Amino acid sequence: MAKTKTIYECQHCGHQSAKWVGKCVECEMWNSYEEVSVLASKGGNSVQQSRVKALENNKPKKIEEIRLDKVERLKTGIAEFDRVMGGGITLGSLNLIGGEPGIGKSTLLMEVCGKITREKPEWKILYVSGEESESQIAQRSQRLGVRGDNFYILHQTCWEKIAEQINKLSPDFLVVDSIQTTASESIPSAAGTVTQIREVTYELMNCAKSQGITSFIIGHVTKDGNISGPKVLEHMVDGVVYFEGDQYNYYRLLRVLKNRFGNTHEVGIFEMQEDGLREVHNPSQYFIEKSFDGAFGRSLSCVLEGTRPLFVEIQALVVENKFGNGRRTTHGIDQNRLAMLVAVIEKYYELPLFYQDIYVNVVGGLKLTQRDSDLSVIASLLSSYYKKPLNEKTLFLGEVGLTGEIRKIPMANIILKEVDLLQYERVVTSKRMDPKILAELNLEVIGVEKISDLRDYELF
Ligand code: TYD
Ligand code: MG
Repeated sequence: MAKTKTIYECQHCGHQSAKWVGKCVECEMWNSYEEVSVLASKGGNSVQQSRVKALENNKPKKIEEIRLDKVERLKTGIAEFDRVMGGGITLGSLNLIGGEPGIGKSTLLMEVCGKITREKPEWKILYVSGEESESQIAQRSQRLGVRGDNFYILHQTCWEKIAEQINKLSPDFLVVDSIQTTASESIPSAAGTVTQIREVTYELMNCAKSQGITSFIIGHVTKDGNISGPKVLEHMVDGVVYFEGDQYNYYRLLRVLKNRFGNTHEVGIFEMQEDGLREVHNPSQYFIEKSFDGAFGRSLSCVLEGTRPLFVEIQALVVENKFGNGRRTTHGIDQNRLAMLVAVIEKYYELPLFYQDIYVNVVGGLKLTQRDSDLSVIASLLSSYYKKPLNEKTLFLGEVGLTGEIRKIPMANIILKEVDLLQYERVVTSKRMDPKILAELNLEVIGVEKISDLRDYELF
């Protein structure tokens, strides 16, 4: 039996230390070190030694002489998924799909398996789950209408036993659900620790790549967006996609973080329903209500998710707070960003908002990360303050700076084309927007330089 020794490892970034420390020296996370046992060997880690050996005989080659492997893809027929994967799953690739528990990762991959049973009936599929029992998985597959002669389910958490079955079955498509429940016997630390995740992924990568198996690993992500632990494996895999959404809403976004065989700007949109995930083919107006009905405090904007424009509605409520010290509450946009926009209104629109409670909400549960909708937030605040409804055919686009200036937004041409196409009538945006783009549109464009210029147009 090999000797083991105890070290401490940061469960956030994988940094190792001989002593326990309160704050990680690498990622500065507090209280993240846990005791793990590793095999003691002279001259470092034995696994790492074997990694070095494998590449020892490689010699430099001229770039012209290197044979280009043709990238072959499998189209699953789930258009949103295929687009995110860069036009289909690259054959032989190893991918990671991350997301919070319960978001629908297992459901998505089960549906992908289902499509493969139809597209490639001769393919052997192995779905390894350490999370659910065989009958639970079978129940889910029945609910989703997934079946097939070559579709195998394995309930197993021990990596060595999984590897044995992979070698026996030699599947063409493999899913490991999830990396946090899979553990190797040769590593003394518990399943889900950074050491286990790293080593099991490394073994899995060797196994899948040597046999040319197209594989997916599922990894859980914590609320703050880290695939707890699996962050350390992102560099090993060919593609990383995140499945995200709002637990109170039905929509789900599939976002690419890394793709060695395609671009990383794509987003797929799905809706979770009783019988599985449904693709949202025409998402641009998915998040907005049809009519404003004369209500004030509502304004429209458009943001780019990947390469696709999405229309969003921003709602604001500004109500007097007689005691002063107004509250600021947001949903879907950063609270600090709102604080800044409110300060800009106070200073440059000369409107005192100190005695006002302010609530801002992005309809549909979408989270806005870009600043393209700053102007729209300001418009809905002013609309609520003055109790004046905005026109539902008017769109607000622009980032607002600290001096109250309206800046132009990146990739405005894509957004404006869509706005034009969907027959909006008017867009309020930066004066500095490229006139060439604007000339091609049938829209009335109101170009403003500073937010105080908004006064001239009697919008509020
Ligand atoms: P699941 O795929 O198990 O999530 P994950 O693997 O990411 O943890 O699915 C989670 C939720 O989706 C679960 O609460 C039930 C719901 N669901 C549906 O609404 N419809 C369906 O058809 C399925 C299979 C699940
Ligand atoms: Mg699951």
